[in-house]
Formats: sequence, structure tokens, C-alpha cells
Amino acid sequence: MSRFAFVNGRYVPYRQAAVHIEDRGYQFADGVYEVCEVRGGRIVDERRHLARLARSLGELRIPPPMAPRALGFVLRETVRLNRVRDGLLYLQVTRGVARREHAFPSAGTRPSLVVTARARDRAKTERVAETGISVITLDDNRWQRVDIKTIALLPNVLARQTAREAGAGEAWFVDEEGFVTEGAASNAWIVTGEGALVTRPAERGILRGITRTVVFEMAAASGLTIEERPFRVDEALQAREAFVTAATQIVMPVIKIDGTPIADGKPGPLARMLRARFHEAAEIGE
Ligand code: PDD
Repeated sequence: MSRFAFVNGRYVPYRQAAVHIEDRGYQFADGVYEVCEVRGGRIVDERRHLARLARSLGELRIPPPMAPRALGFVLRETVRLNRVRDGLLYLQVTRGVARREHAFPSAGTRPSLVVTARARDRAKTERVAETGISVITLDDNRWQRVDIKTIALLPNVLARQTAREAGAGEAWFVDEEGFVTEGAASNAWIVTGEGALVTRPAERGILRGITRTVVFEMAAASGLTIEERPFRVDEALQAREAFVTAATQIVMPVIKIDGTPIADGKPGPLARMLRARFHEAAEIGE
């Protein structure tokens, strides 16, 4: 099947899709991105992802590549052209193409916009969720502005690779005081012995995940107790459940941390319930 990518104003065959070698994303990782789930051909939580994109762009003073409505159209068109039923949508905006110079290029430089979509086997992801994943913990060696969803992901790349080499599905970053910040590409959660959901506040040290926000709303609506506070690795090891959230994982049970099983070493009931009901709470596009 032929795939297409949207690159700077045009839908081009995937294999020919390219950006200039002096794109500031390529040279400096000077850009931001979003990943949305596509389910049944519809984009999940598009409004929230575009709002976060606007925030990330604003924080880096990159002008929006196009008006929000037009961008929404491009996203849906990219999903449609690629005939994605279940999969992921990727969107990246960089500060554009300019001669290499660290300071910003001239004000007229057009930001670059790339959108891709790919299908994913939903049954396979569900099978992973049935057994859950292991995580390892690593020192958080990232910069302080991880609240911005930038494409500068080298620490995350290295962390995920370390996890993979250890046979784990995710790495949890741990700050200098021993508190878990978040995963290499997900937010981290635990459930206490009393049944309270615990996740780190989004003010500092983490990305405010869209999946995290939706899970928050669901949990509140279901009458669950939520404690938005940092937690240490040893608290997580004693937890009743652990899980991660991300657009790519929805709610993914964590069954082991650094080789130690969490509770009975099986996905917990709250994580399973939140996963099963997630799409009732999320905003699903047309
Ligand atoms: N990452 N924290 C980090 C560091 C992330 O990279 C992500 C998502 C999240 C969860 O955010 P959300 O729920 O909005 O997906 C938290 C995407 C999926 C990625 O890089 O592939």
C-alpha cells in the first residue's frame, strides 16, 4: 500500500519525503512534536494535542506553521490518505531551514511541518497489555524544560535503549532526590496499598501527558482517590500496582521494576479498568 507524508505544504510519497539538510530540526533538534493515537480511523484527543503543540511552540518562540483548523485538516487528510484504521499520527514542527547559526534565523523563516501516519496492530498491543511490561530506573539526565515536547530526545533514546537491552519495555527517570519523574516516553503512576492513584505533579520535571490528563478525569469521575505528588522508587516497589500512560501505550500495566515484581507480578485491576475504559473518556474525532 502506498504511504504519504505531509511535508511543508504537500502530500508526497513516503519514500520521497525529505527535509533540507539545513533544517534546524536536523541541525539543532530545534523543534517540537506530537504523537496522537488513531483509532477506527479517528484521531484521539486532537484538541488537547494541538493545544499542547501551541504551548510548546510558544515556549520556544516558533511561529505556528498554519492555522489550527487547517492543521486539523492536514492531520485528518494524512490519516485518510494512508488508510490508517488503528495506528499513530506523528507531527513535527521545526524552526525551519536556515544557514547554520545557533541564534534564531530571520523573522521571515518559515517553520517546517511534517506529518506522518502509520498503522499498528491493535491486537498485538493488547497482548502486551495483557502481560504488562517491566521497567528499569535510571538517573534523569535531561534538561529542565521537559515540559516542552521537543524533538531533542537523546537522553530518552539512550534510556529506552538501555531498557531494551535489559529486557524491559520502559525506563523510568529518577531525579536527584530519588523521586521518579516519568518514563522515557510515558508518564509514571502507582497505586498505593489504600488504592489511591499517585502520579507526579506536572509543574516540574515531566511532560504533561494528554493520556495522563484523560486518566485523571476518568479516575476523578469514577470516585477514585488521586494523589498528585512525587513518589520514590522504593514506594513504587511496595505499590499495589504500577502503570505508564502515553498516546502510544494508553494505560500500560507495569509488572516489574528493576527486576522486582510489583504485587503479584500481574497487571493490576485499576490499570486494566482504566485501559478498558480510556476511549469512553477521551475525545474521539469525526
Ligand atoms: N511520548 N512523557 C514523555 C517524556 C513522553 O515522551 C510522552 C509521550 C509522555 C506521555 O504523553 P502523552 O500521554 O501526551 O502521549 C510523557 C510520545 C508518545 C512519543 O514520544 O512517542
